[in-house]
Amino acid sequence: MSVLSSEVIAQIDQWIQKYPPEQRRSAVLPGLLMAQEANGGWLSADVITAVADYLNIPPIAAFEVASFYSMYELAPIGKHKISVCTNIACQLAGCQTIIEHLEQRCATQLGATSADGQYTLRSVECMGACIHAPMLEVNKQYHENLTLEKVDALLSQLTNEGASS
Ligand code: FES
Repeated sequence: MSVLSSEVIAQIDQWIQKYPPEQRRSAVLPGLLMAQEANGGWLSADVITAVADYLNIPPIAAFEVASFYSMYELAPIGKHKISVCTNIACQLAGCQTIIEHLEQRCATQLGATSADGQYTLRSVECMGACIHAPMLEVNKQYHENLTLEKVDALLSQLTNEGASS
């Protein structure tokens, strides 16, 4: 059985069609993202190799991409990956206070996953929402103009979603 599901292959095929036939390798970034999403939010060596094989590129080329960009995870992560911008605008707007609050509430450290597997906290570079700093992204949604109260409300929402799913 293929490491990549037929759904992931169909998604990668859609991306391949956006590029000239000889530039199949250009689909490596979205291909890895699709494969990561289908693999519980992280890329194992098998999955990276399977994407590379499908795109006819050397596995090392896909590994280089997967290890360079912060959106790829090379080990299992928590149920909710919270990416906090720590770039300059968010620094000036107090992201450090937000991070310390998240670390305390999620019982983990920036760059790590909580023991209960619920939360992974990540520091990321500018996400283009500087005007609404400080901000974070979780489950593909931006949360901006953060306050400690907003963080608490967000964590309650994530907990409730987890309880009802
Ligand atoms: S510096 Fe944080 S979104 Fe730009």
